[in-house]
Amino acid sequence: THIDWTYETAQKSGYKHYMLKEIFEEPSCVAATLSGRIKSAKVHLPEIEELQDLLASSKTLKVVACGTSSYAALSFKYFLENLSDVCVDVEVSSEFRYKRPNFDENTVLVAVSQSGETADTLESVRLAKSKGAKVLAITNVVGSTLMRESDHTLLLNAGPEISVAATKSYVTQLVLLYLLGLKIVELRDQWNERCTKLIDSLLRLPEVLDATLSRAEHIKEVALKYKDFQHFMYIGRGLGYPTALEGALKLKEISYIHATAYPAGELKHGPIALLGPEFPVFAIAPFDALYAKMKNNMIECKARKTKLVVLTSDDCEDVREIADDVLSVNSFSEQLYPVLMAPVIQLFAYYIADALGHDPDKPKNLAKSVTVE
Ligand code: AGP
Repeated sequence: THIDWTYETAQKSGYKHYMLKEIFEEPSCVAATLSGRIKSAKVHLPEIEELQDLLASSKTLKVVACGTSSYAALSFKYFLENLSDVCVDVEVSSEFRYKRPNFDENTVLVAVSQSGETADTLESVRLAKSKGAKVLAITNVVGSTLMRESDHTLLLNAGPEISVAATKSYVTQLVLLYLLGLKIVELRDQWNERCTKLIDSLLRLPEVLDATLSRAEHIKEVALKYKDFQHFMYIGRGLGYPTALEGALKLKEISYIHATAYPAGELKHGPIALLGPEFPVFAIAPFDALYAKMKNNMIECKARKTKLVVLTSDDCEDVREIADDVLSVNSFSEQLYPVLMAPVIQLFAYYIADALGHDPDKPKNLAKSVTVE
């Protein structure tokens, strides 16, 4: 028998690109991230035992990260601030490291980095440590510089991510940060019924992510309709906003289409001036507490004759009246839509990049780890 596989195709398990393979690994990676971390319907994170007192008492939690990791961090801010009284202060590492360090030994700094080698994030950690802050790393790479230099580490357990475009690391960062968030809520005695429900939903994530991935063909069909546009605007509200930022980053970094993202409520403060038939909008609009607001924003976009792609949830009944194209995920816990929607924004960007003949695994001008400033 003749097997038509090279070493490289075998490495990609038959997928055309690592990016596609890594997106399809997301359900099993999430299962690995969750593994052993939920016990008796509570979060079990022995790695952070020594931080418990600080996490229970600090008013503010600082988080640093770059790129996609910073959007996972921003989702964490929305998630945790909604469930507790902690103020989550998220900053991109390249800014944090040059600002006056307004914190001390009572501060916990969470540093999020897939590679654990991002120069600006490492410098932020060094700055924080020099002021006596405690550093908690969230990384995918065992033995990375970030892991070695931090006081404590939570590992993503997502397996190696080869494609320059972060995909499974983003999804597992979200899951691990949500677990951390729930742990903090418990430590601060703010646990309630919603948290118990979230635990249950987190455990169901691998299966529901599978359901999202089973819609890949439809996502491809829709993506291909938009491959020739030069611009894209992503909008969202609440947890939909970091998802919009990540959708725009994914599209621009691998397809080289100009993409920008705004909180939908900001449109009227300037960005709406850009919109028209040549500037499509990608709206993150699950049927959640903010849907009615999003709907108004989408109608405003349509009034500028833009094409409108809406990423929503299956329980949203009226979106088809306004959207040109609808992408949808299973109806689920509102707080977990960033996780369920991640493969959709990733596949949308992937199929466009591939159709345009670009290699999404090695985008021009980009490296997997940014180890220099
Ligand atoms: C994501 O697709 C990017 N290539 C990039 O933004 C990346 O997330 C960023 O450089 C941070 O990397 P890190 O998580 O390894 O620190």
